[in-house]
Amino acid sequence: MRYNPIAQTVLALETSCDESAVAVVRLEGSKIKLLANRIASQVAEHSKWGGVVPEIASRRHLEAIPFLIDEALKESGQSIETFDAIASTVTPGLSGALLVGSVTGRTLSRLYDIPYLGMHHLEGHLASVRLGDNPPDYPYLVLLVSGGHTELIRVDSDFEFHRLGRSHDDAAGEAFDKVARLLGLPYPGGPAIQICAQTGNPSRFSLPKGRVSNPKGGFYPYDFSFSGLKTAVLRQIEKIKSDQRKLPIHDLAASFENVVAEVLVERSIRCALDQDLKNLVLVGGVAANTRLRQMMRQMAFEKSVSVHMAPTEFCTDNAAMIGVAALSRLLSGGNASSIEMGVSARCSLEEANFLYMKKPPF
Ligand code: KG4
Ligand code: ZN
Repeated sequence: MRYNPIAQTVLALETSCDESAVAVVRLEGSKIKLLANRIASQVAEHSKWGGVVPEIASRRHLEAIPFLIDEALKESGQSIETFDAIASTVTPGLSGALLVGSVTGRTLSRLYDIPYLGMHHLEGHLASVRLGDNPPDYPYLVLLVSGGHTELIRVDSDFEFHRLGRSHDDAAGEAFDKVARLLGLPYPGGPAIQICAQTGNPSRFSLPKGRVSNPKGGFYPYDFSFSGLKTAVLRQIEKIKSDQRKLPIHDLAASFENVVAEVLVERSIRCALDQDLKNLVLVGGVAANTRLRQMMRQMAFEKSVSVHMAPTEFCTDNAAMIGVAALSRLLSGGNASSIEMGVSARCSLEEANFLYMKKPPF
């Protein structure tokens, strides 16, 4: 892979779900510079259907990506041939949506003879913390909470990921989206619930914390389950409706948001302490949640754990985080990805190193 010792610049594409995004990110010395960051959100369109419609997502990516690339090039003042790598998210996500970024990235790479990096979406989320002014030192624990994932990941050095906890059913963001729907709030549910909860009483309803039983006895201490919580909210709603009372959506939203934040904070701090990790990182769409951020700061402070959060604007999907992750791969001096590599709807973060092998995993 070509290596410019003074500065490296990457063009990054993100199309794994419902945000079409393009960024230009440069590393100068140890400084990350975001030269362009463009996002075309499809949220308004998917909102009509109450969730992401994969076919619509692919079509909208196809329409948006060429314009976003054009805008990002203008904003950054870069021309394509000057990039040190072109990166696009290849896994996990919606296959048809991922293909748009993948094909675009590989085509540009081949046309301009620039190395191609196929990126793991979750590695991008983890890298988003480095877009803030308080990046963590290794080793650290990451709480990754998004629409598709709720995971606790131990990171010991570059690209050395060990998953210690996960959700056994819905991801935290998915729970926000489903509960919002039950409350008659729009998609995406997270921001809608956050606003609605601001004027609600978080202790009005007692909701379950969803522990996961270990068949050998007891519970998995770092795992999550949110489907029972969603059902508990549904039961409350049904009961209130059958009593012909007005739905207290603010109190329900606040109680739900509060219990999700408590569960996430309690289990991640416990995991960090058990693992003797002094640094805790918070990333992913749900990490934009104000109550979660406040609660995490407070409890981490009490337990002398240092918290590092992705800036709110880089919590939800964006290409800047993909660019930052790509710069790390570029800097590691390893291989580029094979131009033959396609996309995959599923792939664990622990398998991300396979994306840079001569024989692509998919
Ligand atoms: O990371 P992300 O943009 O996409 C995935 O990779 O899944 O996360 C999207 C998820 C959605 O479920 C959305 O409801 C949730 O993040 N979310 C929030 C907030 N903003 C977005 N959840 C709670 N509070 C928020 N402020
Ligand atoms: Zn994401």
